[in-house]
Amino acid sequence: MNPRSILAGADGSPSALNAVRWAAREAASRRLPLRLVHVAPDGRQPGDRPLEEARRRAEATEPGLEVRTATRTGPAAAALIDEAGTASLVVLGSHGLGGFPGMLLGSVSSALAAHAPCPVVVVRGTLPDDPPPEQGPVVVGVDASPSSDAAIAFAFDAAGRRGAPLTAVHTWTDMSLGETWSVLPIDVDYDEVAEDERRLLAERLAGWSEKYPDVRLIQRTVRDRPVRGLLAAAAGAQLLVVGSRGRHEHHGMGLGSTSQSLLHHAACPVAVVR
Ligand SMILES: Nc1ncnc2c1ncn2[C@@H]1O[C@H](COP(=O)(O)OP(=O)(O)O)[C@@H](O)[C@H]1O
Ligand SMILES: [Mg+2]
Repeated sequence: MNPRSILAGADGSPSALNAVRWAAREAASRRLPLRLVHVAPDGRQPGDRPLEEARRRAEATEPGLEVRTATRTGPAAAALIDEAGTASLVVLGSHGLGGFPGMLLGSVSSALAAHAPCPVVVVRGTLPDDPPPEQGPVVVGVDASPSSDAAIAFAFDAAGRRGAPLTAVHTWTDMSLGETWSVLPIDVDYDEVAEDERRLLAERLAGWSEKYPDVRLIQRTVRDRPVRGLLAAAAGAQLLVVGSRGRHEHHGMGLGSTSQSLLHHAACPVAVVR
């Protein structure tokens, strides 16, 4: 069987070329081939340029990397979701050739983050054509449910291969307490709550440090709303890793509201892991 490849979507935009660069590094580090896919609208002759540029960028980033290219036709999101079925990871830019000024996340990236059957990395920076950062910690958002376990696994692996520290962040607020306690006591002992939340984070991480003894793990419990707390923790990070759904969301496909906001606002690449 062919080894599963890392897939990057190339539409000819600067943002997609940054995604190709990130994907090439990731493929080399995982010793997997890189598959570059361009989707042309039905009935239109696909141009060669997006794939040629993407291949050049990949080869310049990682000389010697096995790079394959493919052209598909049809609606871009549907074609890429189909391609994702045989990939280990899909890497996309935050913007493409469509969109409009001020738009925070393109529609194709948005659709893949919500519906791809494998992890998705959206390579974004403070500007659409910022090269992706290669310094700083990997940050993972951890909630109280097993739904972040896949994100934790992805984050340890990513930090291990990069020799980067891993910051695991768990946020909590008075609002989240209301879900655990049907009646909120009048005199909440916040020190005690903070201690409980710290224990909860440690429990979710139990076992992982033994599996990855070389990864320096920093555990942070933050009293803040999830999006704000995670964005603050991700300042200066090289990758932010989140699950696709939190504990408030129904099961199935789709994307939780925290992950969605982070994809819109983070200043570093974001991995959504289901
Ligand atoms: N036709 C396409 N073929 C391959 N990849 C695509 C295509 N369209 C979009 N992508 C990928 O998705 C990323 C985001 O593009 P998109 O969501 O379409 O944003 P926009 O709405 O700004 O065009 C691109 O950087 C690229 O990686
Ligand atoms: Mg587009």
